[in-house]
Amino acid sequence: MAIIKKFRIKSFKKSAPLIYFSKISISFGKRQILDDVSFKVNPGEILGLLGPNGAGKSTIFNILTGLLKPDHGNIFFEAKDATEYPIYLRTRKFKIGYVPQYGGYFNDLTLFENLYAIAEILIQNKNDRIYKVNELIGKFELDNVREIKAKFLSGGQRRKLVICMALLGDPKILLCDEIFAALDVLTIQMLKEILVTLQNEKPQMCIIICEHQARELLSVVDRAMILSNNKIIAQGTPSQLIKNENARSAYFGEFFKFN
Ligand SMILES: Nc1ncnc2c1ncn2[C@@H]1O[C@H](COP(=O)(O)OP(=O)(O)OP(=O)(O)O)[C@@H](O)[C@H]1O
Ligand SMILES: [Mg+2]
Repeated sequence: MAIIKKFRIKSFKKSAPLIYFSKISISFGKRQILDDVSFKVNPGEILGLLGPNGAGKSTIFNILTGLLKPDHGNIFFEAKDATEYPIYLRTRKFKIGYVPQYGGYFNDLTLFENLYAIAEILIQNKNDRIYKVNELIGKFELDNVREIKAKFLSGGQRRKLVICMALLGDPKILLCDEIFAALDVLTIQMLKEILVTLQNEKPQMCIIICEHQARELLSVVDRAMILSNNKIIAQGTPSQLIKNENARSAYFGEFFKFN
């Protein structure tokens, strides 16, 4: 595996967390999905979220963006309690970029029009808007499909489009729900490099990535946690996590190797 991260930042303790997910519980009907789950994400940090299907990973993203309201607990962004903030306010005030697990684009707009529609909301100056849209189209090698309607793009091209949409607003908090799904090997490599470059260029930004491709995820994150049976059952740096007994028995299995 190519080395993506030259080093992992060992300590983020000096600054206040950008995200504090505090004692969150949520049930759907009688089924409890999250039970008193807490975690913090620091500026500059890339956090990985792993867990079996149905563990509640996308639910965490939906609670962070405000799409779902928790039964108990609070969400703090930059130490401000945003639990009651509506979606538009928390995404705008705290600059949240979100790559949802599914969809996230307008079917009947072209790739360029999708990006431009979001740029019109997020970027005031028209020249800056066009520059930023074209920059992302170039970076993600989407030039040859810029005039194609989103519904006719391939699965991977659509994922790239949604990632570009999330990056348009220059987010401070980037939430990525299964971003490597449907992408080819070289595109995954390119995307990992983009994430690590973002981390180096923007020390005040944080990224949470949820992903089933555990090796890909562990190669870019500073820290990861495993969600299982409504709780975070293990967390730590990638090398700590793969040695963790709980993590091995609930998620990685006995034979998982990293590096
Ligand atoms: N709005 C909802 N109403 C009812 N049940 C829901 C709702 N949202 C999520 N769930 C349930 O909560 C559980 C967790 O769902 P979630 O999508 O968070 O899982 P996940 O960890 O993202 O899984 P996957 O890896 O398959 O994407 C699932 O059993 C799902 O059916
Ligand atoms: Mg999910």
